Amino acid sequence: MNPIIDLLKQHRSIRKFTAEPLPAEVINTLIEAGQAAATSSFIQACTVIQIQNPDTRAQLAECSGHQAYVASAPVFLVFCADMHRHQLACDLHQADMLSGFTEQFLTASLDCGLFAQNLVIAAESLGLGAVYIGGLRNQIERVSELLELPELVYPVFGLCLGYPDQNPEVKPRLPVSVVLKQERYSDQDDRAAIQAYDEEVRTYYRQRTGNNKEMSWSEQISGMLVKEARPHMLPFLQKKGFLRR
Ligand SMILES: Cc1cc2nc3c(=O)[nH]c(=O)nc-3n(C[C@H](O)[C@H](O)[C@H](O)COP(=O)(O)O)c2cc1C
Repeated sequence: MNPIIDLLKQHRSIRKFTAEPLPAEVINTLIEAGQAAATSSFIQACTVIQIQNPDTRAQLAECSGHQAYVASAPVFLVFCADMHRHQLACDLHQADMLSGFTEQFLTASLDCGLFAQNLVIAAESLGLGAVYIGGLRNQIERVSELLELPELVYPVFGLCLGYPDQNPEVKPRLPVSVVLKQERYSDQDDRAAIQAYDEEVRTYYRQRTGNNKEMSWSEQISGMLVKEARPHMLPFLQKKGFLRR
């Protein structure tokens, strides 16, 4: 339709990178592209921490469930939802900041998602590849200690960046009819649409170049959602000053 939409639809996560480094100017440009995203009430609540120290990288790879590319990617960034600097802003005006609201957690986390996705699109437009690393939250307490995150800052996810050394196929998404509803919610036709999509995903997994498997989408999801999802997150976030009211 146009080059930007084409680029978006060509997205696939990249987990193998060449050794080619990224110049600091490119990283700065990508950060500025991230910052250009919309931000709830202008809060600008995303802080990015670039990790270059090999020992820290190795520890973060371990925290993420031994994802080797966390240690080896040319660039590794940690996206943090950050309401700490807003305390500084309030201090400048002798205002007592009220924190801990679920709304603030939501807006700060959303800011990180929008910032990061802008950055990823900018990176992909330069021929770079990326993969998000939610695995960091497996050991979020240890990650926060390693990065010396203060109160009201938490690591939402990491991001590996670099020039692709693989060319994986694009992963098919749910049919538009399942994700776009008109006027009101209805799941009337979703079961049949998901079953048809299951076959598409099964074919994708069977035929893709690497890591082939016999798996449909609903099978994958049903295997995942019968397990607890990082139950340590709520007490951790509350300890950091989020989600208290
Ligand atoms: C917030 C977030 C966290 C993710 N965490 C990981 C991760 O820890 N490791 C990984 O290999 N992929 C991770 N992914 C990548 C997803 O698995 C991937 O985007 C999804 O399977 C769709 O594939 P695609 O990006 O190739 O289209 C993450 C994606 C997102 C958005």
